[in-house]
Amino acid sequence: MQILDGKIVSEAIKINIKDRTFLHKKNTGITPHLAAILIGNNGASETYVASKIKNCEAVGFKSSLVRFDNNVEERELTNTIDKLNDDDAVHGILVQLPLPKHINESHIINLINPKKDVDGFHPISIGKLVQGIETFVPATPLGVIMMLKHYNIETVGKNAVVIGRSNIVGRPMSILLSANTNPGNSTVTLCHSRTKNLEKICAQADIIVAALGIPGFLKANMVKEGAVVIDVGITRVADDSKKSGFAIKGDVDFENVAPKCSFITPVPGGVGLMTIAALLENTLKAAGAK
Ligand code: GUN
Repeated sequence: MQILDGKIVSEAIKINIKDRTFLHKKNTGITPHLAAILIGNNGASETYVASKIKNCEAVGFKSSLVRFDNNVEERELTNTIDKLNDDDAVHGILVQLPLPKHINESHIINLINPKKDVDGFHPISIGKLVQGIETFVPATPLGVIMMLKHYNIETVGKNAVVIGRSNIVGRPMSILLSANTNPGNSTVTLCHSRTKNLEKICAQADIIVAALGIPGFLKANMVKEGAVVIDVGITRVADDSKKSGFAIKGDVDFENVAPKCSFITPVPGGVGLMTIAALLENTLKAAGAK
Protein backbone atom coordinates (compact mmCIF):
# COMPACT_ATOMS: atom_id res chain seq x y z
CA MET A 1 0.00 0.00 0.00
CA GLN A 2 1.29 3.43 -0.94
CA ILE A 3 0.09 6.72 0.53
CA LEU A 4 -0.80 9.39 -2.01
CA ASP A 5 0.87 12.29 -0.25
CA GLY A 6 -0.96 15.55 -0.89
CA LYS A 7 1.69 17.52 0.92
CA ILE A 8 4.57 16.39 -1.25
CA VAL A 9 2.63 16.67 -4.52
CA SER A 10 1.01 20.03 -3.75
CA GLU A 11 4.35 21.52 -2.63
CA ALA A 12 5.97 20.42 -5.91
CA ILE A 13 3.09 21.96 -7.90
CA LYS A 14 3.30 25.17 -5.90
CA ILE A 15 7.03 25.52 -6.59
CA ASN A 16 6.27 25.14 -10.30
CA ILE A 17 3.45 27.73 -10.06
CA LYS A 18 5.74 30.15 -8.21
CA ASP A 19 8.37 29.89 -10.97
CA ARG A 20 5.79 30.40 -13.74
CA THR A 21 4.28 33.35 -11.85
CA PHE A 22 7.70 34.98 -11.61
CA LEU A 23 8.25 34.55 -15.36
CA HIS A 24 4.75 35.76 -16.20
CA LYS A 25 5.29 38.92 -14.15
CA LYS A 26 8.69 39.48 -15.79
CA ASN A 27 7.38 38.96 -19.32
CA THR A 28 4.01 40.73 -19.09
CA GLY A 29 4.01 42.81 -15.90
CA ILE A 30 0.87 40.92 -14.84
CA THR A 31 0.55 39.66 -11.26
CA PRO A 32 -2.19 37.02 -10.94
CA HIS A 33 -4.88 38.29 -8.58
CA LEU A 34 -7.54 36.14 -6.88
CA ALA A 35 -10.54 37.78 -5.22
CA ALA A 36 -12.43 35.68 -2.68
CA ILE A 37 -15.88 36.49 -1.34
CA LEU A 38 -16.70 35.07 2.08
CA ILE A 39 -20.14 35.37 3.66
CA GLY A 40 -20.95 34.81 7.32
CA ASN A 41 -18.75 33.08 9.86
CA ASN A 42 -18.82 29.38 9.03
CA GLY A 43 -15.64 28.06 10.71
CA ALA A 44 -14.71 25.64 7.94
CA SER A 45 -15.25 28.26 5.19
CA GLU A 46 -13.12 30.74 7.15
CA THR A 47 -10.30 28.19 7.36
CA TYR A 48 -10.47 27.29 3.67
CA VAL A 49 -10.52 30.90 2.49
CA ALA A 50 -7.65 31.85 4.83
CA SER A 51 -5.64 28.97 3.40
CA LYS A 52 -6.44 30.01 -0.19
CA ILE A 53 -5.29 33.58 0.53
CA LYS A 54 -2.13 32.42 2.32
CA ASN A 55 -1.21 30.13 -0.56
CA CYS A 56 -1.79 32.91 -3.11
CA GLU A 57 0.78 34.98 -1.30
CA ALA A 58 3.20 32.05 -1.07
CA VAL A 59 3.34 31.71 -4.87
CA GLY A 60 3.52 35.45 -5.59
CA PHE A 61 -0.14 36.17 -6.43
CA LYS A 62 -2.12 39.15 -5.21
CA SER A 63 -5.31 38.35 -3.34
CA SER A 64 -8.32 40.22 -1.98
CA LEU A 65 -10.87 39.07 0.53
CA VAL A 66 -14.34 40.64 0.48
CA ARG A 67 -16.36 39.74 3.57
CA PHE A 68 -20.07 40.06 4.25
CA ASP A 69 -22.31 39.37 7.23
CA ASN A 70 -24.59 36.39 7.13
CA ASN A 71 -27.60 38.67 6.49
CA VAL A 72 -26.10 40.30 3.40
CA GLU A 73 -28.60 41.20 0.67
CA GLU A 74 -28.23 39.52 -2.68
CA ARG A 75 -27.96 42.97 -4.30
CA GLU A 76 -24.77 43.74 -2.36
CA LEU A 77 -23.18 40.53 -3.61
CA THR A 78 -24.32 41.27 -7.14
CA ASN A 79 -22.71 44.73 -7.00
CA THR A 80 -19.45 43.30 -5.67
CA ILE A 81 -19.26 40.63 -8.37
CA ASP A 82 -20.04 43.24 -11.05
CA LYS A 83 -17.16 45.39 -9.79
CA LEU A 84 -14.73 42.46 -9.67
CA ASN A 85 -15.81 41.40 -13.17
CA ASP A 86 -15.04 44.92 -14.43
CA ASP A 87 -11.68 45.18 -12.66
CA ASP A 88 -8.97 44.20 -15.16
CA ALA A 89 -6.46 43.73 -12.33
CA VAL A 90 -8.56 40.87 -10.90
CA HIS A 91 -8.15 37.58 -12.78
CA GLY A 92 -9.99 35.07 -10.61
CA ILE A 93 -13.18 35.39 -8.55
CA LEU A 94 -14.46 32.79 -6.11
CA VAL A 95 -17.50 32.85 -3.87
CA GLN A 96 -16.93 30.47 -0.97
CA LEU A 97 -19.82 28.00 -0.61
CA PRO A 98 -22.15 27.25 1.08
CA LEU A 99 -24.07 30.53 0.98
CA PRO A 100 -26.73 31.58 3.52
CA LYS A 101 -30.15 30.09 2.74
CA HIS A 102 -31.69 33.39 1.58
CA ILE A 103 -29.12 33.79 -1.21
CA ASN A 104 -29.71 32.03 -4.53
CA GLU A 105 -26.44 30.18 -5.10
CA SER A 106 -26.82 29.53 -8.80
CA HIS A 107 -27.88 33.13 -9.42
CA ILE A 108 -24.69 34.36 -7.74
CA ILE A 109 -22.41 31.90 -9.54
CA ASN A 110 -24.00 32.78 -12.89
CA LEU A 111 -22.91 36.41 -12.41
CA ILE A 112 -19.20 35.60 -12.38
CA ASN A 113 -17.51 36.29 -15.71
CA PRO A 114 -16.65 32.78 -16.99
CA LYS A 115 -13.16 34.11 -17.88
CA LYS A 116 -12.61 34.67 -14.14
CA ASP A 117 -14.46 31.54 -12.95
CA VAL A 118 -11.47 29.86 -11.30
CA ASP A 119 -13.79 27.57 -9.30
CA GLY A 120 -15.23 26.22 -12.56
CA PHE A 121 -18.77 26.33 -11.16
CA HIS A 122 -20.35 28.57 -13.84
CA PRO A 123 -22.72 26.71 -16.20
CA ILE A 124 -20.51 27.71 -19.14
CA SER A 125 -17.47 26.14 -17.44
CA ILE A 126 -19.41 22.97 -16.58
CA GLY A 127 -20.88 22.83 -20.10
CA LYS A 128 -17.41 23.02 -21.62
CA LEU A 129 -16.13 20.38 -19.20
CA VAL A 130 -18.92 18.01 -20.26
CA GLN A 131 -18.09 18.62 -23.92
CA GLY A 132 -14.35 18.12 -23.42
CA ILE A 133 -13.57 21.77 -24.27
CA GLU A 134 -10.68 23.49 -22.46
CA THR A 135 -12.06 25.36 -19.43
CA PHE A 136 -11.65 25.94 -15.71
CA VAL A 137 -12.15 22.64 -13.90
CA PRO A 138 -13.46 22.65 -10.30
CA ALA A 139 -10.46 22.60 -7.98
CA THR A 140 -11.13 19.46 -5.94
CA PRO A 141 -11.71 17.03 -8.83
CA LEU A 142 -8.85 18.72 -10.74
CA GLY A 143 -6.65 18.19 -7.67
CA VAL A 144 -7.58 14.49 -7.65
CA ILE A 145 -6.66 14.20 -11.35
CA MET A 146 -3.32 15.94 -10.67
CA MET A 147 -2.67 13.46 -7.87
CA LEU A 148 -3.46 10.43 -10.09
CA LYS A 149 -1.19 11.88 -12.78
CA HIS A 150 1.68 12.52 -10.36
CA TYR A 151 1.69 8.91 -9.18
CA ASN A 152 1.14 7.54 -12.70
CA ILE A 153 -1.97 5.69 -11.60
CA GLU A 154 -3.56 3.81 -14.48
CA THR A 155 -7.18 4.88 -15.07
CA VAL A 156 -7.72 3.73 -18.68
CA GLY A 157 -10.39 1.03 -18.84
CA LYS A 158 -10.67 0.86 -15.06
CA ASN A 159 -13.91 0.65 -13.15
CA ALA A 160 -14.18 3.87 -11.16
CA VAL A 161 -16.87 4.52 -8.57
CA VAL A 162 -17.57 8.07 -7.42
CA ILE A 163 -19.70 8.34 -4.28
CA GLY A 164 -21.49 11.69 -4.10
CA ARG A 165 -23.07 13.77 -6.89
CA SER A 166 -22.35 17.34 -5.75
CA ASN A 167 -21.67 20.05 -8.33
CA ILE A 168 -18.41 20.82 -6.51
CA VAL A 169 -16.88 17.33 -6.46
CA GLY A 170 -18.78 14.17 -7.42
CA ARG A 171 -20.38 15.18 -10.71
CA PRO A 172 -17.35 16.93 -12.24
CA MET A 173 -15.16 14.08 -10.92
CA SER A 174 -17.31 11.55 -12.79
CA ILE A 175 -17.01 13.62 -15.99
CA LEU A 176 -13.22 13.90 -15.69
CA LEU A 177 -12.68 10.20 -15.01
CA SER A 178 -14.86 9.21 -17.96
CA ALA A 179 -13.35 11.77 -20.38
CA ASN A 180 -11.24 10.65 -23.34
CA THR A 181 -8.07 11.87 -21.63
CA ASN A 182 -5.26 10.48 -19.51
CA PRO A 183 -5.95 10.33 -16.60
CA GLY A 184 -9.48 9.47 -17.70
CA ASN A 185 -11.02 6.80 -19.93
CA SER A 186 -12.43 4.98 -16.90
CA THR A 187 -15.84 3.35 -16.82
CA VAL A 188 -17.53 5.46 -14.18
CA THR A 189 -20.41 4.65 -11.85
CA LEU A 190 -21.73 7.72 -10.01
CA CYS A 191 -23.34 6.64 -6.73
CA HIS A 192 -25.45 8.70 -4.34
CA SER A 193 -27.85 8.48 -1.42
CA ARG A 194 -30.47 6.60 -3.48
CA THR A 195 -28.05 4.05 -4.95
CA LYS A 196 -28.99 0.42 -4.34
CA ASN A 197 -26.31 -2.20 -3.65
CA LEU A 198 -23.66 0.44 -2.99
CA GLU A 199 -21.47 -2.06 -1.12
CA LYS A 200 -21.47 -4.44 -4.07
CA ILE A 201 -20.78 -1.70 -6.60
CA CYS A 202 -17.86 -0.37 -4.55
CA ALA A 203 -16.44 -3.84 -4.00
CA GLN A 204 -16.03 -4.22 -7.79
CA ALA A 205 -14.24 -0.90 -8.25
CA ASP A 206 -10.62 -0.44 -9.24
CA ILE A 207 -10.79 3.21 -8.19
CA ILE A 208 -13.10 4.70 -5.55
CA VAL A 209 -13.55 8.43 -4.97
CA ALA A 210 -15.46 9.00 -1.72
CA ALA A 211 -17.05 12.45 -1.69
CA LEU A 212 -20.22 12.20 0.36
CA GLY A 213 -19.22 13.92 3.61
CA ILE A 214 -19.95 11.09 6.06
CA PRO A 215 -16.90 10.34 8.24
CA GLY A 216 -15.63 6.74 8.01
CA PHE A 217 -18.40 5.74 5.55
CA LEU A 218 -16.29 3.57 3.23
CA LYS A 219 -15.55 0.34 5.11
CA ALA A 220 -13.07 -2.43 4.32
CA ASN A 221 -15.79 -4.84 3.09
CA MET A 222 -16.68 -2.30 0.36
CA VAL A 223 -13.15 -2.23 -1.08
CA LYS A 224 -11.48 -4.90 -3.20
CA GLU A 225 -7.84 -5.90 -2.75
CA GLY A 226 -5.54 -3.57 -4.69
CA ALA A 227 -8.08 -0.76 -5.19
CA VAL A 228 -7.10 2.90 -5.39
CA VAL A 229 -9.04 4.91 -2.78
CA ILE A 230 -9.34 8.69 -2.91
CA ASP A 231 -10.87 10.31 0.15
CA VAL A 232 -12.42 13.73 -0.44
CA GLY A 233 -14.16 13.95 2.96
CA ILE A 234 -13.15 16.74 5.34
CA THR A 235 -15.75 16.70 8.12
CA ARG A 236 -15.06 18.40 11.47
CA VAL A 237 -15.68 15.95 14.31
CA ALA A 238 -15.60 17.02 17.99
CA ASP A 239 -12.30 15.97 19.62
CA ASP A 240 -11.38 17.30 23.05
CA SER A 241 -7.77 16.17 22.66
CA LYS A 242 -7.26 18.82 19.95
CA LYS A 243 -6.58 22.47 20.70
CA SER A 244 -9.20 23.47 18.11
CA GLY A 245 -11.77 21.15 19.73
CA PHE A 246 -12.24 19.14 16.53
CA ALA A 247 -10.46 16.67 14.28
CA ILE A 248 -10.78 16.48 10.48
CA LYS A 249 -12.20 13.12 9.38
CA GLY A 250 -12.37 11.66 5.90
CA ASP A 251 -15.13 9.55 4.33
CA VAL A 252 -12.94 6.44 4.51
CA ASP A 253 -12.38 4.13 7.48
CA PHE A 254 -8.66 4.57 6.80
CA GLU A 255 -7.29 2.20 9.41
CA ASN A 256 -9.17 -0.81 8.05
CA VAL A 257 -9.35 0.16 4.36
CA ALA A 258 -5.70 1.18 3.84
CA PRO A 259 -4.18 -2.35 4.16
CA LYS A 260 -6.33 -3.53 1.20
CA CYS A 261 -5.40 -0.67 -1.12
CA SER A 262 -2.67 -0.26 -3.73
CA PHE A 263 -2.89 3.52 -3.18
CA ILE A 264 -4.86 5.63 -0.72
CA THR A 265 -5.06 9.31 0.24
CA PRO A 266 -4.89 10.23 3.93
CA VAL A 267 -7.08 12.84 5.64
CA PRO A 268 -5.69 15.34 6.43
CA GLY A 269 -2.71 15.54 4.09
CA GLY A 270 -4.39 14.26 0.92
CA VAL A 271 -6.93 15.78 -1.44
CA GLY A 272 -7.50 18.99 0.59
CA LEU A 273 -4.00 20.26 -0.19
CA MET A 274 -4.42 19.33 -3.86
CA THR A 275 -7.59 21.46 -4.04
CA ILE A 276 -5.57 24.55 -3.16
CA ALA A 277 -2.85 23.70 -5.68
CA ALA A 278 -5.51 23.26 -8.40
CA LEU A 279 -7.12 26.61 -7.53
CA LEU A 280 -3.71 28.31 -7.85
CA GLU A 281 -3.21 26.62 -11.22
CA ASN A 282 -6.62 27.90 -12.39
CA THR A 283 -5.83 31.42 -11.20
CA LEU A 284 -2.48 31.47 -13.02
CA LYS A 285 -4.31 30.33 -16.16
CA ALA A 286 -6.93 33.08 -15.69
CA ALA A 287 -4.08 35.61 -15.57
CA GLY A 288 -3.01 34.44 -19.02
CA ALA A 289 0.05 32.39 -18.08
CA LYS A 290 0.89 29.12 -19.73
N1 GUN B 1 -16.92 25.02 -0.62
C1 GUN B 1 -16.41 23.78 -0.54
N2 GUN B 1 -15.50 23.59 -1.54
C2 GUN B 1 -15.46 24.72 -2.24
C3 GUN B 1 -14.70 25.13 -3.38
O1 GUN B 1 -13.90 24.39 -3.97
N3 GUN B 1 -14.92 26.40 -3.81
C4 GUN B 1 -15.81 27.23 -3.21
N4 GUN B 1 -15.98 28.46 -3.71
N5 GUN B 1 -16.52 26.88 -2.15
C5 GUN B 1 -16.34 25.63 -1.68
